[in-house]
Amino acid sequence: MGLPFIVLNYKTYLQGTGQGAVEIAKACKAVSEESGIEIAVAPQLPDIYRVASEVELPVFSQHLDGIGAGSFTGHVFGKSIKEAGAVGTLINHSEKRLTLAEIEASLKAAKEFGLRSIICTNNVPTTAAAAALGPDYVAIEPPELIGSGIPVSKADPEVVSGSVEAVAKIDPRVKVLCGAGISKGEDLRAALDLGSQGVLLASGIVKAADPKAALEDLIRLV
Ligand code: G3P
Repeated sequence: MGLPFIVLNYKTYLQGTGQGAVEIAKACKAVSEESGIEIAVAPQLPDIYRVASEVELPVFSQHLDGIGAGSFTGHVFGKSIKEAGAVGTLINHSEKRLTLAEIEASLKAAKEFGLRSIICTNNVPTTAAAAALGPDYVAIEPPELIGSGIPVSKADPEVVSGSVEAVAKIDPRVKVLCGAGISKGEDLRAALDLGSQGVLLASGIVKAADPKAALEDLIRLV
């Protein structure tokens, strides 16, 4: 197996807002260059342009609506985030849930604008359903473990391995990430040993006193 893919979701954490978004991205870029591991960041929408302009690393949107140009006040338009510098998007994060029809429409918009797609899911059946839509990645994140500091890869290994198995049967081209409570080297190692190809994480790095040191700890057992 190759190197993992790490996606850092800033959510609306203060530390990852405005100039903080740029500083954390710089830490991610430094660790990515040292290690060769691809690290992407998902700042808040208004920070996408500033992060993408100042730091050369993959920037994802936290959300994308399945709409086109026109009368869609307050929506997130694929062309807009692409032009702001995003190369991909989260879809259906647990904190920004969508209906199945909306997920499909968001994914279609991501594909239309050449954006990489990560559909977030909460259990094995939803992971299987998401994989059937054909995104680049699914990210399994049990909501009860999000922000808990209890790693999914240790607290609920079956949901990770079950997702990996389900996706392999449905569409082996879809890659599986896992997330919730991941922050340390052993959490990432356990996630990879369960067959996932990377992690989607947030608080353990964004809220760390030293995000670069936290990232270095995260990847130390890869
Ligand atoms: O999108 C990542 C996320 O929901 C996991 O959050 O803070 O448990 O790493 P956290």
